[in-house]
Amino acid sequence: MAMLRHAAGSMKYFVNVNSRCTRNCSASTETFSDIPSPQGIWPVIGHAHLFGPTGPYKAERLTEAVMDLSRQLGPVFKLRLSGADSVVTVDADDTRTMFRHEGRHPFRPSFPAVQRYRQKRFGSMGIVPGNGEEWYKFRAAILPLLHPRVVKAYADRHTQVASRFVDYIQMKINETSSETINDICQDLMKFSIEAISVTVPGVQFSSLAAQSIREQDTQNIMNASTDFMEGLYGTLIGLPLWKLYRTRSYRKLESSHEVIYKVLESRLQGMKCRYMDSPEQIASAHPFLAAIFNNPTLEWKDIVMLGMETFLGGIDATATTMAMTFHYLAANPEIQQQAYEKVLRQDSSQEMSFLRACIKETLRLSSTAGANSRFLAKDANIGGYLVPAGTLVYAFNSVTSLDEKYFVEPLKYLPERWLRESSTSKGHPFASLPFGYGPRMCPGQRLAEQEMVILLAEVLRKYHLESADHTPKPVGMVYRMNRVPDRPINLCFRNRRV
Ligand code: HEM
Repeated sequence: MAMLRHAAGSMKYFVNVNSRCTRNCSASTETFSDIPSPQGIWPVIGHAHLFGPTGPYKAERLTEAVMDLSRQLGPVFKLRLSGADSVVTVDADDTRTMFRHEGRHPFRPSFPAVQRYRQKRFGSMGIVPGNGEEWYKFRAAILPLLHPRVVKAYADRHTQVASRFVDYIQMKINETSSETINDICQDLMKFSIEAISVTVPGVQFSSLAAQSIREQDTQNIMNASTDFMEGLYGTLIGLPLWKLYRTRSYRKLESSHEVIYKVLESRLQGMKCRYMDSPEQIASAHPFLAAIFNNPTLEWKDIVMLGMETFLGGIDATATTMAMTFHYLAANPEIQQQAYEKVLRQDSSQEMSFLRACIKETLRLSSTAGANSRFLAKDANIGGYLVPAGTLVYAFNSVTSLDEKYFVEPLKYLPERWLRESSTSKGHPFASLPFGYGPRMCPGQRLAEQEMVILLAEVLRKYHLESADHTPKPVGMVYRMNRVPDRPINLCFRNRRV
């Protein structure tokens, strides 16, 4: 909801929003104004009341709200928010159309509070909050992160971090004399901090060390990551009061940036000095840092900003996805056994493809992003309606990925559907896109997948996972900035070798 409301406010980038589409839409018969929308458009707030205290929906359950609205209105409908109409679709063909009409520099809703703060404090904006040329400069610089050779260079260190996580679990078990670990997401955040630190700043943190002397640092980083997400979200929803004074959410943005800056800047400086002394060595051990240090379009302030974004981007979604994968495997022991057998077989290609399928299946059922969104760069036919350039479209990935039109038994955790020989996928390539798509897709996808697959193999090798809840219930997802589990995930780690 927050996302929707704010985005509608960003329509000032475009003109002609409500005009009739006339170009490239000749096959369509219906106009923009024919697109159905919920009844009751209130002055100023439009449809926002639907998600208010007296409305039928909860903002944190936006996916369920969109499912319900699409049952009433059809797969394509409009919502009026902040004085402009956005289009929502739950059809994977429309998702494809949206991405095919996103242009060379895709526009997503921006984060004006982050833009303002970063510009003022650091003189550099980074990738996430902006659009257009400014976005492109950073995007081009982060692209090496998607290169398989670059990602592979970190594989051994990811294995090392994963085995430290396994030891860390054992340490917790020994300390408490219990195999139960409550709220595993917190522990997985320590994993994801240590794992991303291998790439940026290139100096491995010891978040998972026993009695870490840096325990306070780790806690500060975890708090900063949460504050960053809450700050992004809080400055996006409601009235932009942060323009008048430093609201609580704005202060969270400030404090999280300060913590991460302090943790990263000096370490990046150190790596830069080492790079000057031995460029070949750094290039092979730290190919991503070498690429950004070498990039002539970046000043030092941009390099630090890019480092901050890579670091922050690497924490939250990775931890959530791993926690949900552990949850699904605990709830599906036969699939966990299958995964374990693949790990035992030590055939890395078989092992990897099944474990990768487990992660994909987790992201299909519980994606961290609810929707992919773009302002159309050109007129498009969305679900038979003429939608003009400049309109914001939300393609609800978290709805299409649960639709039986695209997936057999869509509510079941069936990783095999992602394997080539499977018969359980009807295979629409745009039905499940948890990392987005196109020139603006997640640049950390390959790195995150490598970290997660390696961790899964290491954990399964040592532990059998079980739910620690007496009556295991399904875990839903609620919207914060990313979607997160709606309750703590409590697990038993049973040592396989005992
Ligand atoms: C399970 C892990 C992750 C998931 C599910 C995820 C998901 C996403 C999604 C859905 C987007 C928006 C894409 C679009 O609009 O098309 C995105 C953007 C982004 N992600 Fe990730 N991400 C993950 C991990 C990471 C990691 C490890 C990093 C850093 C290394 C990262 C850095 C970023 C950045 C910088 C952007 C903004 C890209 C842009 O605006 O051009 N992400 N991510």
